[in-house]
Amino acid sequence: MAMARTRPTLMDGRLTRAILSIHQQTLKELFKWVLQKTRHLCHDLMEEWLKNNQEASICTAEGASEFKNIANFQDYHGLPAFRVAMAKFMEKVRGGSVRFDPDRIIMSGGATGAQELIAFCLADPGDAFLIPTPYYPGSDRDFSWRTGVQLLPVHCDSSNNFQITAAALESAYEKAQRENFRVRGVLITNPTNPFGTSMDRETLQTVVSFINGKQIHLVCDEIFAGTNFSQPRFISVSEILDDDLDCNRELIHIIYSLSKVLGLPGFRVGVVYSYNDDVVSCGRKMSSFGLVSSQTQHLLASMLSDDSFTTKFLADSAQRLSQRHHVFTSGLAQVNIGCLKSNAGLFCWMDLRPLLKEATVDAELDLWRVIVHEVRLNVSPGSSFHCSEPGWFRVCYANIDHETMQVALRRIHKFVEKVNGGVSVSPKKKKKKSWDAQLRLSLPRKFEDLTTKTPRYMTPRCLMSPRSPLVRAAT
Ligand SMILES: Cc1ncc(COP(=O)(O)O)c(C=O)c1O
Repeated sequence: MAMARTRPTLMDGRLTRAILSIHQQTLKELFKWVLQKTRHLCHDLMEEWLKNNQEASICTAEGASEFKNIANFQDYHGLPAFRVAMAKFMEKVRGGSVRFDPDRIIMSGGATGAQELIAFCLADPGDAFLIPTPYYPGSDRDFSWRTGVQLLPVHCDSSNNFQITAAALESAYEKAQRENFRVRGVLITNPTNPFGTSMDRETLQTVVSFINGKQIHLVCDEIFAGTNFSQPRFISVSEILDDDLDCNRELIHIIYSLSKVLGLPGFRVGVVYSYNDDVVSCGRKMSSFGLVSSQTQHLLASMLSDDSFTTKFLADSAQRLSQRHHVFTSGLAQVNIGCLKSNAGLFCWMDLRPLLKEATVDAELDLWRVIVHEVRLNVSPGSSFHCSEPGWFRVCYANIDHETMQVALRRIHKFVEKVNGGVSVSPKKKKKKSWDAQLRLSLPRKFEDLTTKTPRYMTPRCLMSPRSPLVRAAT
């Protein structure tokens, strides 16, 4: 098991403070409205449950008798009822096709803490994990910053809908070896962020047989399990293990969290589920650094073991997501903006390649600045996800209300019409981008400096995510 090592970094220190002091006002204006409008699609269902189950909380007259017990509880194994309920819920979001052992559940502070915990367990500073691109940029922070583990890209592109192939894995592995990295494993996210797709069985089998062949670990971040809203259904790596009896199960570790499907990022409920006894034992001790509060465990033990509630919640959530996805992607299609076909997640992967002046990251960031400052929409450019193909943007459509989404669509329509001088965009025809000269001029000078001079590691997403601490601090 690897030892912890703290790595000093510039990223969240002086540089961030400098950016904040210069751009506080800009960020404030940009996001105040967005934050006010931020909603989870299904919080109303949860609120209703809370009203009907007041004894589940130690902060109500009905539940206060449990206060003393819960307030004193700090065992890093977690409340047994919480682990049982969590295992049951994890089975449910995987369609009941697999079983999870509550004794293999390790608690962590969200999937953020889970990624760090597993990296500490499986690798030493300087070791490497392969990661298919594009990927959730938070992994650079969560998996790497304090552990010193390197994330090395496995390049995927739109030629096969960004699917992971054996050839891409092999080539990344060989490159890592040539560069003298000790590759300890592969980190994947399924359903994926930023695409909102779930991996098919063949792709998962490819990844599992790759890591098994090399005898390296596989960490599957399945935080979006439960957000599957249309066919094909989500397949967890745990199902592949049940099929593939030759695979060394000790190499497989799953990350889960309640931040997405239940919309509880503030509760900081994350889990590592490992098939490896040593990792369970080591991770359990390390989880002391990121325990879920006993009050939260107590409440969730009750909520998640309410079978009829979770069944209805997941069904309603899928139906609402599906509807939202349909309205949003059809709205984009009206102005010929395409998205990668998706079936899960809270966002889509929008193809704005036809709007780029040229196929470069600089052109992508130019377009991104215009979208943020002029169109006034918060989207994330592909380069912030380490996408090697410029022109893709991730748009979240599930954390806003319907009216806000309509405003967003109207702005996109207006923007595309402006770009094309009143004619809808044709991906085939390259038109001169009249907005570029016009709109760039009106960007705040300092912000332009910032986005053009900022090093690659200070990604736009880092600045712009409505959930980033940076934005919160500025509002
Ligand atoms: C793929 C992925 N992993 C981990 C996280 C972090 O989740 P949490 O809020 O549970 O820490 C996120 C959040 O967006 C994510 O998209």
